[in-house]
Amino acid sequence: MSLITIDDFSYPQGWTDPKHSEERARWCCSQLEDGHVLFFERIPFDFPEANLHFLRTQQQSSSSLHKNISYRPHQDKLRGFAAEAREEVERLHEVMRYYSAQVVEFLSRLLVPYSPHWKLDFASFRPLEEQGRDLPLHKRNDLLHVDAFPGRPTRGGRILRCFTNINLTQPRRWLIGDNFPEIAKHYSIDAGLQKIAQRAATPAGALRKAFAPLQHLVRRRTAERAAYDEVMLRLHDYLKENEAFQREGTKIRTDFPPGSTWIVFTDAVPHAVLSGRLALEQTLIIPIAALMSPEKSPLRKLEEIAGRSLAN
Ligand code: SIN
Ligand code: FE
Repeated sequence: MSLITIDDFSYPQGWTDPKHSEERARWCCSQLEDGHVLFFERIPFDFPEANLHFLRTQQQSSSSLHKNISYRPHQDKLRGFAAEAREEVERLHEVMRYYSAQVVEFLSRLLVPYSPHWKLDFASFRPLEEQGRDLPLHKRNDLLHVDAFPGRPTRGGRILRCFTNINLTQPRRWLIGDNFPEIAKHYSIDAGLQKIAQRAATPAGALRKAFAPLQHLVRRRTAERAAYDEVMLRLHDYLKENEAFQREGTKIRTDFPPGSTWIVFTDAVPHAVLSGRLALEQTLIIPIAALMSPEKSPLRKLEEIAGRSLAN
């Protein structure tokens, strides 16, 4: 993994120059798929100072019920805020709506090959100090992990996230781990890859999948999961549970300074956040068919090891 600084970016002219924008967009996508992090020293999209100020002065309760505030662009819904005055909630909603629209517009220029195909996922605002949070093991983000969403299976689609540290003085401190192929090679079998792959391929597993549309009515989330989603959820938990991996696994400490933005496939790049408060993040799901190199994706890497398809 390395941090790739995109420093000749100037909003908005830099990326609209047709001479190099397409070539550069393909290059950026390839770097991300190789497990690198694209890094911008300054916020590369429009973010009015008044909005920044509003977010920085939000006082969140320290309740562990809400790790963050989420915004669902498709439904235009805000979730996870502590009860505050109605005007404040409305303002927060407006700020999140604008942030999400701006970051997506920026990403659609930066990563042109993905944008016609991606699925817009949630955006979030993370107002709490990350250091010393008291969360159950599997919810702890200070332990190295790869991302997988229990409630939103991707069936092989990639989790791409764009983060911005809006703290004025404090960096957001991450640990970044080894490449996914290494993680998959060393840990996927122990985490249960073969068992899940075999279960999905048994007549009972196939039958369960065939009836998924019916189950869907009862247990929506489980029914939509492919074997891939089960493996990734298991790997997420397994890595957080594995003390030796946490202690001895390869990792690089990375400080994202105030005002910086970074983009990364968090389903493949192991990461942990050690400290920092006040970050924004937008998630996009990139379908496997839109990737520059689908063979480098976690789905294909895990299938290589399992020796069978995990897409069902
Ligand atoms: C995560 O582990 O996905 C969260 C990282 C962060 O909030 O900086
Ligand atoms: Fe994560």
